[in-house]
Parts: sequence; C-alpha cells; structure tokens
Amino acid sequence: MSLVELRNITKSYEGKPALDGVSLKVRKGEIFCIMGHSGAGKTTLLRILALLERPDSGEYYFDGALVSWNRPGSLRRGITMVFQTPVMFNTTVFKNVAYGLRLRGYSRAEIEQKVKDVLRLVGLEGYENRKAKTLSGGEKQRVAIARAIVLEPKLLLMDEPTANLDPTNSGIIEDIVREIAKENGTTIVFSTHNMFQAKRLADRVAHIHLGRIIEVGKTEDIFEMPKNELTRKFINGELF
Ligand SMILES: Nc1ncnc2c1ncn2[C@@H]1O[C@H](COP(=O)(O)OP(=O)(O)OP(=O)(O)O)[C@@H](O)[C@H]1O
Ligand SMILES: [Mg+2]
Repeated sequence: MSLVELRNITKSYEGKPALDGVSLKVRKGEIFCIMGHSGAGKTTLLRILALLERPDSGEYYFDGALVSWNRPGSLRRGITMVFQTPVMFNTTVFKNVAYGLRLRGYSRAEIEQKVKDVLRLVGLEGYENRKAKTLSGGEKQRVAIARAIVLEPKLLLMDEPTANLDPTNSGIIEDIVREIAKENGTTIVFSTHNMFQAKRLADRVAHIHLGRIIEVGKTEDIFEMPKNELTRKFINGELF
C-alpha cells in the first residue's frame, strides 16, 4: 500500500524547471531516500510532499486521497517536516517540543507524557528545562525531530537531516530515524547528497538529477547494479 503517490509533478521557478515530471510511490512504513546532488530538486520535492509548496501541474495522492491544493486542510495534520537547519524557538526544550501539541489542544498531563516519551526516543531525557538556543547543533536537530514526531505523523519528511553534523552526531540521528520507523511504524522520506547515508538508512532510494527521478529501487539493487548510467556514476563518485 502506498502512503504517497505523485504523478507527473512539475515545478518551475522563474521559468526554470526545478522538478520536471516527477512520479513516485512511497509505501507505508518504509524509509525512503531522495538522493541527489545540490540543486537536483530534493528540497522542492520535500516541500511539495509537505504541502508547503504547490506544484505547477501533476497530482499528489496522500493515503489514497487526491490533494486539493486550495484546501489541503486536515491532510496537513498527517505530515511533519524537519528542515535542514533546525530553527529553535527562544525558550525551553519542553516548550519547543510541546508547541504543536498545545495547538492541537492536548491536556497538560498528556503533553508532559508525550514530550517525555519523545525526548527519551531522541536521547534527550532530562533536557526539558534547557534553553533550546544554547544546545549544540546535533542536539538542536534532535529537538527538531522530537517536535516533528511528537505529533505522530503518518509521514515524516527530513531534508538532509545530517548535512551540518559531524559523523558522530550523524550516526546518532541515523539511529533515531531507524528507531522511529521501528517503534512507531512511521513512513519516513529523507533527502541526502550522501550516498553512504542513503545506503545505510534507506529501504528504497530514488536518484534525482536535474529535477527528474532517473532511477528508483531497493537500496541494495541501486547500489549493486544501478540501471542508469548517471546513477552508476553518482555512486562511483564520478558525477559532479
Ligand atoms: N524559491 C525559489 N526561487 C527560485 N529558485 C528556486 C527556489 N527554490 C528552488 N529553486 C531552484 O530550483 C532548483 C532545485 O532547488 P532545490 O532547493 O530543490 O535543490 P536541492 O536538491 O534541495 O539542493 P541542495 O542539495 O543544495 O539543498 C535549483 O536550481 C534552485 O536554485
Ligand atoms: Mg535542499
């Protein structure tokens, strides 16, 4: 069963195509990677999946329902996105994570329990009263992930979740992503320009190049026997 289906999505900025006929299916519960170089269209694609950006043409089906771009409304509730550079509210970790729950009207006790559980999942138990702005880059990214998953989305989108982090912190984030998929069964779509991360983390990979998905498949198939010449070059580090 697909949670996400895109059909022939196009998006241009100032007459230049950023996405050029993208069709894609993401299955429920999988970790799906959008892999490609800078400028390939990864962020544009994720922003459309998050309903933050409207495509010029094409259809988006989310959990079986055709997205109506004039009224995405309740569908937004099922989708959260973690951005490449986490932006923290100038307050405590607790309030940063609780923010979305407050908007949704949860009780104080429910909020406390959910924040506690999610902070444990991202390895930040006991951080509730820390000032979010004073955390390290890796800790901030974990707060951003906590803020996104505490809302229990059907679809979690992560735009280059470790691009600004060192290998140790990247490894921590990758473990958290696996844990979220395993514990919550959340469908996760992340982007990366790092083929090693794609290989380590994804169940399936789509290679995006100049706004087109040129190959998609199971991770081991893509890396062991890529069908597309450009994908072969990408994974051999020959495509710049
Ligand atoms: N708001 C915008 N206005 C104008 N051009 C844009 C805008 N957003 C994206 N683009 C252009 O669309 C293309 C795809 O950009 P996008 O940000 O999706 O790439 P990306 O794969 O995320 O790159 P990176 O790895 O550097 O983050 C680029 O040529 C970019 O300059
Ligand atoms: Mg980007």
